[in-house]
Amino acid sequence: MNSELVIDVRGLSKRFGSLVAVDGVSLKVRKGEVFGFLGPNGSGKTTTIRMICGLLVPNAGAGQVLGQDVLSGSSGIKRRVGYMTQHFSLYNDLTVEENLRFVARMYSMTAANQQASRVIEELGLQDRRRQLAGTLSGGWKQRLALGACTMHRVQIGLPQ
Ligand SMILES: Nc1ncnc2c1ncn2[C@@H]1O[C@H](COP(=O)(O)OP(=O)(O)OP(=O)(O)O)[C@@H](O)[C@H]1O
Ligand SMILES: [Mg+2]
Repeated sequence: MNSELVIDVRGLSKRFGSLVAVDGVSLKVRKGEVFGFLGPNGSGKTTTIRMICGLLVPNAGAGQVLGQDVLSGSSGIKRRVGYMTQHFSLYNDLTVEENLRFVARMYSMTAANQQASRVIEELGLQDRRRQLAGTLSGGWKQRLALGACTMHRVQIGLPQ
C-alpha cells in the first residue's frame, strides 16, 4: 500500500462566536484510501471538511493537505481538491451544460466547452444537457454536482 499521506492535520478547531463547532480534530489519510467520516447532525463534519479544503480558516491546529499548509496554502489546496457541497450550489437558472462550462472557466481550464462535454458524456447527462439545473430531480442534481466538482481532475474528493 502506498503510504503517502494526502491529508495530515492535527488539532483542528473552529469556533463560531461562543460555539465550539470543532474541537481538536486530528486525522491522517493516505493516498488511495477511502476515509469515512461519521457523526451526529451538527457534530462538525462539514466544518472540518471545509477547513481541510482551505475554505475556512481554523482557530487552532495545523497540517498539510497534498503537501500544502492548511493555513497558508488554501489556493493550492482548492485547485487540487474536489469538494461536493452538502447543498446544491450550482445555478438553478442555467442549464446542465452552461453550469459545467461556467465551472470549467472558473478553474481556468483550457477548452472549457470541450471539458464540459467530456463530463456530460462521462456522467451520462447527454439527455439533460439543455435542461435547467433547477428542474433536475435530486439524484440528477447530485450527478451534475459530482461532475462539476471533479472536472478539474482532482487528487482528493470530499463529499459534503
Ligand atoms: N457558518 C456558521 N456560523 C455559525 N455556526 C455554524 C456555521 N457553520 C456551522 N455552524 C455550527 O457548527 C456546528 C457544526 O456544524 P456542521 O455543519 O459542521 O455539522 P455536521 O456534522 O456537518 O452536521 P450535519 O450532519 O447536519 O451535516 C453546528 O452547531 C452548526 O450550527
Ligand atoms: Mg454536514
